[in-house]
Amino acid sequence: YLNGGWCKRTQQIRSFPDGFLFGAATAAYQIEGGWYEDGKGLSIWDIATHTVPSPIKDGSTGDVSADSYHLYKRDVELMKELGIDFYRFSVSWSRILPNGFADKINQPGLDYYNNLINEMLDNNITPFVTIYHWDLPYNLQKLGGWTNPLIVEWFRDYAKILFDRFGDRVKFWMTINEPKQICYEGYGSDLKAPFLNATGIAEYICAKNILLAHAKVYHLYDESYRKIQNGTIGISLSCTWYEPASDTSDDHQAAVDARQFDWGQYAHPIFSNAGDFPAEVKQNIALKSAEQSFPKSRLPEMSAAEVALIRGSSDFFGINSYTTKLTYRDASLEGMYPVPSYMDDMGAVMIKDPSWTQAQSTWLQEVPWGFYKLLVEVRNLYDNPPVYITENGWSTAGGLLDEGRISYYRSYLTALLDALDEGCDVKAYTAWSLIDNFEWKNGYTEKFGLYEVDFSSPELTRRPRKSAHIYKEIIRSRQLNL
Ligand code: BG6
Repeated sequence: YLNGGWCKRTQQIRSFPDGFLFGAATAAYQIEGGWYEDGKGLSIWDIATHTVPSPIKDGSTGDVSADSYHLYKRDVELMKELGIDFYRFSVSWSRILPNGFADKINQPGLDYYNNLINEMLDNNITPFVTIYHWDLPYNLQKLGGWTNPLIVEWFRDYAKILFDRFGDRVKFWMTINEPKQICYEGYGSDLKAPFLNATGIAEYICAKNILLAHAKVYHLYDESYRKIQNGTIGISLSCTWYEPASDTSDDHQAAVDARQFDWGQYAHPIFSNAGDFPAEVKQNIALKSAEQSFPKSRLPEMSAAEVALIRGSSDFFGINSYTTKLTYRDASLEGMYPVPSYMDDMGAVMIKDPSWTQAQSTWLQEVPWGFYKLLVEVRNLYDNPPVYITENGWSTAGGLLDEGRISYYRSYLTALLDALDEGCDVKAYTAWSLIDNFEWKNGYTEKFGLYEVDFSSPELTRRPRKSAHIYKEIIRSRQLNL
C-alpha cells in the first residue's frame, strides 16, 4: 500500500467501536417498480426510460425492477437475515404527491411507506429515509426542476408531509442524495435525467437551489420537529478521492480543484466555518466567465443570509464513496471544451490507473487507500464532523460467487478502521446495495446487490450472494477478520 501513502495495519482481528452501525441502502426508482400504480404520478425517470430511443444502455426501465412495491416484506426478511442495524431507502416524491405539489396527497403512497416502516420496526430494523433520490415529479421538471428557485418551497412542502406522517417512527433522515450527480450529471451534462446538458450554467443554478432547499428542510426539522420526534437529519454527498497523478504543483492543484468542484462545492457551504462556495470554485468560474465575456460569474452569488442559512445545516456528513481517480493538469485541453463548460472551469483531467482492480462499472476501481485519505481530508477540512458512510459498493456482471465484492468490502472496511484509528468520527457504514436493481444509465447490466435478484423469474427471486454471508458475519461479530 505504498501507493497513496496508506499503510494497512497488520492485526488479524480488528473490532468496530461500540455503537457503530451497519446498514444497506436502495433507492425508490431503482427497486420499487409499481411505476404507474395506485395513483402514483410520473417522475423524470419514468419519462426518460420511456423515451425512444432509450437513453439507457440496455433499453430497460424501472417499471417493475425488483418490484419492492409488492415484495417489501421479502426485502425486510433479507434485512433481518443479514442482521443490519438500519436500512436506507428513499421515498418516491411522485408516489406521495403525484403532481409534485402538496395540494393532493396520494393515500396509497403513504400506505406503502407506512407498511414498509412498520414491517421494518417489527423486525428491529431502523428506517433511514432519503427524502430525495433523483426521481423528481415530471410536473415539476416541466417548470424547470432544480433550476427554478421555487423548488425550495416545493421541496419543503413535500418534506413536511414526510415528517408529519412518518416522523413518529423515522429518526434518521437524509434530505438529498448526491447533489453533484443531480446537478452536474442531470443539468450540466447528459449523463442522468433530465439530460439537460446545459454545461457551465445549469449545474451551478441547480447547486445553489439544492443547497437552499436542503437547508430549509433541515431548519424546518430542527425548529418544528426535533424536540418532539428526536431524530437526526443531514445530507449525503458523493465523494470521489482525487489523487495527484504526479508530484508537480500543477497536478496537486488539479487534484484540489477536482475535490472542490466534485464535493467541496456542496460540503464547504454546509460544513466549513466560512460557509459559501469554496474559493477554488468561485475563482475558477469567475476567471473563465470573464474570459468568455459573461458580465458576471456564471456561479450564482449567495447573500449573507443564504450563507448563514446553509452553514451548519446538517447533523452529519453523509459520504457516498466508491472510488479514486488520478488527476492532472493539461493546458493543451483548453479550448477543447464547449464554452462555457464545467470541465473547463474545473481545469483538471481525471483518469483511471490500469493497475487498480476494475469492477463491472467502467468508473469503479478498488482503491481503499483513497477512501482512507478521503476520510482524513474530511476530518481536516471540516473540523471532524460526525460521518455516516451512506453508500459504498462494488458491481459485477452477476453470479452468486462475488469474490471481487468481498475483497472490496473487506479492504474498504479496513481503510475505515484505519481512519477511526486516526480519530475520524465515522459512526456508520452502509453497503450499496441490499438487492440488485436498476442502475440508472446502465439498466440491469451491472449488479451491486448483496442479494441477487433473478429478473427473469416471475417471482423476482432474491438469493444471497457469498458477500451477503461475509457481511452478515462482520455485522454479527462487529469484527473484521483479516
Ligand atoms: C450512487 C447512487 O451514486 O451510485 C446510486 O446514489 C447508484 O443510486 C450507485 O446506484 C451506482 O451508480 P450507477 O450510476 O452505476 O447506478
